[in-house]
Amino acid sequence: MSEQPRNDRPMAAAVTAELLAKYDRPGPRYTSYPTAVEFHDGFTADDYEGKLAEAAKAEGEALSLYLHLPFCHERCTFCGCNVIITRKHEPSDRYLHLLHREIEMVAERLGDRRDVVQYHWGGGTPTYQSIEEMQTLQQVVNRHFDFLPSAEVAIEVDPRVTTDEQLTALRDLGFNRLSMGVQDFRPEVQEAINRNQTLDETERLFDTARNLGYESINIDLVYGLPLQAVDTFRETLREVIRLRPDRVACYSFAHIPWIRGNQRRIRPEDLPEAEVKLQLFGTAMEEFLSDGYEQIGMDHFALPEDELAVAARNRTLHRNFMGYTVKPATDMIGLGVSSIGDLRGAYAQNTKKLSAYQRAIEGGTLPIERGVELSTDDLIRRDVITRLMCNFHLDRRAIERRWNIDFAEYFSAELPALAEPVDHGFVTMTDDTIEVVGAGRLFIRNVCMIFVAYLAAKTGSRPMFSRTV
Ligand SMILES: C[S@@+](CC[C@H](N)C(=O)[O-])C[C@H]1O[C@@H](n2cnc3c(N)ncnc32)[C@H](O)[C@@H]1O
Ligand code: SF4
Repeated sequence: MSEQPRNDRPMAAAVTAELLAKYDRPGPRYTSYPTAVEFHDGFTADDYEGKLAEAAKAEGEALSLYLHLPFCHERCTFCGCNVIITRKHEPSDRYLHLLHREIEMVAERLGDRRDVVQYHWGGGTPTYQSIEEMQTLQQVVNRHFDFLPSAEVAIEVDPRVTTDEQLTALRDLGFNRLSMGVQDFRPEVQEAINRNQTLDETERLFDTARNLGYESINIDLVYGLPLQAVDTFRETLREVIRLRPDRVACYSFAHIPWIRGNQRRIRPEDLPEAEVKLQLFGTAMEEFLSDGYEQIGMDHFALPEDELAVAARNRTLHRNFMGYTVKPATDMIGLGVSSIGDLRGAYAQNTKKLSAYQRAIEGGTLPIERGVELSTDDLIRRDVITRLMCNFHLDRRAIERRWNIDFAEYFSAELPALAEPVDHGFVTMTDDTIEVVGAGRLFIRNVCMIFVAYLAAKTGSRPMFSRTV
């Protein structure tokens, strides 16, 4: 059982300004390894066809399906997701028809491989769509796939646009998990991120979801947003704790204005300094841990009885594009614009452009824009990084057995780089284990970076990634 840091105040305080300056640099979030930066257009729709044909042969293995519904009425200035902003109905109507067709095309290629253990509608805002549209979409999926009784069936909802009727219809369609975007309740912060969302509307939707019997409800928060301060963020945290969600994701604000133009509307002078950002997360840890939540990986908290917490204690947690999960599937299929699949040792990403997506689907081609085939070295490093991200702990002997390598020899170039975090008290190491401890957990992304083979991600020298703090 991994021990939980009970109080982070000493933890954040243990980080001197000098250490903070050293560790706060651009770095990946490791929802994939290699990261999307390494995807290239040499991986084509034909390569993906080959992967689907291979996947079709693994008949007994359950799938993970991700559907991207990119539409939102208005853009939040902090948002880093792939979204399409429109209030017109025609584009989303056209998109849904194309998505139906993509589902059919992929299902055809998967043949009898129909079982689904993990299913997620993400966005954008999936509840931008009407009840009828969501019902039709689910009918199409149900025609081609079978959901296991234990399947995790999840959807992201924005309380500002989601109705009780939609939650009722979604429950009838089999959804059993909800994730609600909140970010911060303070009006000034909401103003600065163009997202006005009252506590009342959030609480009302939360209560409806509870009454409808959703098994697990998650709330998303973001720290490091403009005008956030420790005291007011604490008020948001306390309101969230009062609602008692099963899980909370407390994401570090990924500030990537060179990729997301909408973030240029945020005034740099409104952003909290790295030291304050660290204190904001420290405050979240303090509040959640003292109120009965357990920390899960780098940015989640869960009630002890939630299966995410159980998996974290048993060190069986997994991580993929949807974040931390308890339901590993051997193959993950992405559907819709910009979605990413992870199957048969390759990542494959759909085009982000609606026009290119439409052209491909109407031409009978899978809308793959880029991807990457993983080498054995990628697979070994992905295993190491995922385990550290999930458990803060690595069993070196287990890696040796799984990959038939000598850990010390294989990572002879990397292991000396761990001496520094060991010196700082962030990592402990024996011949059998590597453990990220205490304040080192705040810098897990930096520790993982040591095991990355790709230069740009390793050095953090180019502004491709958000900062690690
Ligand atoms: C697709 S959005 C959520 C669904 C819905 N559109 C909403 O806003 O409520 C998923 C989550 O990603 C997180 N997120 C979006 N942009 C982010 C950024 N730049 N940095 C960190 N987290 C971000 C937010 O917490 C958000 O709730
Ligand atoms: S945070 Fe949610 S509602 Fe806001 S723009 Fe992003 S996806 Fe849309």
